[in-house]
Amino acid sequence: MSQLIKTKNEFINKRRALPGRVGLVPTMGNLHQGHLDLVKQAIEDCDHVLVTIFVNPKQFGPNEDFANYPRTLESDIEKINSLEGSDKVIVFAPENNEEIYPENFQTEIRVKDITDVLCGKYRPGHFDGVTTVVYQLFSISMPHFAYFGQKDYQQFKVIEKMSQDLLLPLGLVMVPTTRDEDGLALSSRNNYLSADERKQALTLPNSLRELAQNLVDNKDYILLKDEIKKKLENDSHWQYLEVYDADTFKEVHTESKTYLLAGAYQLGKARLIDNVLIGV
Ligand code: PAF
Repeated sequence: MSQLIKTKNEFINKRRALPGRVGLVPTMGNLHQGHLDLVKQAIEDCDHVLVTIFVNPKQFGPNEDFANYPRTLESDIEKINSLEGSDKVIVFAPENNEEIYPENFQTEIRVKDITDVLCGKYRPGHFDGVTTVVYQLFSISMPHFAYFGQKDYQQFKVIEKMSQDLLLPLGLVMVPTTRDEDGLALSSRNNYLSADERKQALTLPNSLRELAQNLVDNKDYILLKDEIKKKLENDSHWQYLEVYDADTFKEVHTESKTYLLAGAYQLGKARLIDNVLIGV
């Protein structure tokens, strides 16, 4: 069974007393199988696992779903406790926002350039909120490894850049996206979908898969850009659908090793994101 801690000071003291390899899984709660796969991986790799559950106000825009974001601590803990090795897990769920952002908090961590495209373009300030809170969580958790899902690939690369630039002594582990049987990437925001929207949501993973397959078969980048353009013109639910060099988030070029094909698809209240990495 895991332990639950609600204050930063208790968490810091607990962490300081932990021997061996420590893994961190930062989350905003409402845990689904995707989160549990991160925790399982951390349990496998590490002697102790810290799971943080904090709905971070700084990464939500003014018209986004911060107020309604599902907060389900009790069932989150039950899910963690159902995992083999849950006795290695300490959950830190701050009892209020001041535990993380005390009064007169003035600091922001910002990674430039790669935050200007894809989700960063449509959610101004989002990644600054993510890097600020993740830096704080790294700081109090002092993990050897931190685990993130590939669904949020841009987030992973932004955190990787912050960690490299600020010389943070930890390893980042990207765990493959966990999907429902029909291919939809798991996300807490899937709960917002009506039955009809849930069916239509498959356009996102299916389109990415189809475009990736065409690129692998035809090796024709111009054709890929053309197909993307057609999809965007024919379906207004796309917020973006783009292909970039997966390391630089710039146009692909002859030296690109991996292409990132990424999309954001808006269905009612649910903004869904997904991506495919294509080795070239
Ligand atoms: O991916 C998430 O759930 C959040 O962006 C994270 C990394 C926990 C930071 O709040």
